[in-house]
Amino acid sequence: MSEDSVRGLTTIGRLPWWDLAEVADHDAHIFGRTAWTLNYYWAVKAQPGTSMFAARTAGSDLAGWIVMFAAGSESDVMTIATTEVGRGQGIGRRLLEAGVDWAASRGAAAVHLEVDEHNSSALGLYRSFGFDEWGRRPGYYPGADAILMRFRPPAD
Ligand SMILES: CC(C)(COP(=O)(O)OP(=O)(O)OC[C@H]1O[C@@H](n2cnc3c(N)ncnc32)[C@H](O)[C@@H]1OP(=O)(O)O)[C@@H](O)C(=O)NCCC(=O)NCCS
Repeated sequence: MSEDSVRGLTTIGRLPWWDLAEVADHDAHIFGRTAWTLNYYWAVKAQPGTSMFAARTAGSDLAGWIVMFAAGSESDVMTIATTEVGRGQGIGRRLLEAGVDWAASRGAAAVHLEVDEHNSSALGLYRSFGFDEWGRRPGYYPGADAILMRFRPPAD
């Protein structure tokens, strides 16, 4: 399948509990020693105020996922990733849209996240989406600062 057809046919929907093991496998591959374990995914899924979305290709391959948290007027992107089949095809942006739309529907006036200052692909995605940098946590990651970013969904 070509990249264009993967992009066109990928669908985004709620991430059901029975897909968590698959997601955790990909997470370990992508994030290495900072990966979330399957147990941690279960704990987050059970936490009130969280929501998870997954992208799947027409062939049902996992192309990416996002985990959101919202409480009151605030929301967080807890994690986001695209898999090897999904990377660089606009799927990260679509997942972020799904997460931000969900947060806005819950009344979030701001969506927050933190990102490793050296993670150029994630920084590129967040900046092009419209997130602004508002602070730093020096040394938050091994050998790197965390950049704190915020997006304000447009009011209806
Ligand atoms: C960050 C990540 C989710 C981006 O997902 P993606 O599906 O590849 O991103 P998209 O194809 O939707 O790209 C959207 C925008 O992000 C930016 N971007 C994506 N890859 C980039 C790269 N390698 N370098 C710079 N900018 C990049 C671009 O602005 C791009 O817009 P454009 O295609 O119009 O130029 C993906 O690279 C990933 O899973 N990385 C590993 C996990 C991770 O670091 N997660 C974030 C933790 S904070």
